[in-house]
Amino acid sequence: MKTTILATLVLIASAGLSWAGAAEGKEVYTAKCAVCHGPNGEGKPAMAKMLNATMPALASKEVQAKTDAQLQAVILKGQGKMKPIAGVTEKQAADVVAFVRTLK
Ligand code: HEC
Repeated sequence: MKTTILATLVLIASAGLSWAGAAEGKEVYTAKCAVCHGPNGEGKPAMAKMLNATMPALASKEVQAKTDAQLQAVILKGQGKMKPIAGVTEKQAADVVAFVRTLK
């Protein structure tokens, strides 16, 4: 009986942990990415025009086809017209990637 309760608690706790990344990532995303990519990753046309760039929707197949490591590299090292995002740790970048995965 006791072990069942314990096992259930462990299960709940680990389920909570697996979502923590995406939840934390959403906060970072809102603070650091939404200004250009929009709240849901659809991209802000005015911002794309200003930067003279095509901004793919983050939920699109081409973006989602990238590996977590590739997406993390875009955030930390930049790509094309997107400059590296300052003040984002590797852990935060991983969290943001987890959030980006929830957009598809
Ligand atoms: C100053 C505006 C700006 C900010 C802030 C910004 N981006 Fe971008 N992002 C862009 C532009 C512009 C592109 C298109 C780059 C290109 O291909 O030239 C882009 C492209 C991307 C891509 C697609 C890369 C590809 O190969 O298709 C991803 C993923 C991405 N951004 C994620 C993020 C995340 C996550 C953040 C926040 C940590 C972020 N961006 C912050 C402007 C921005």
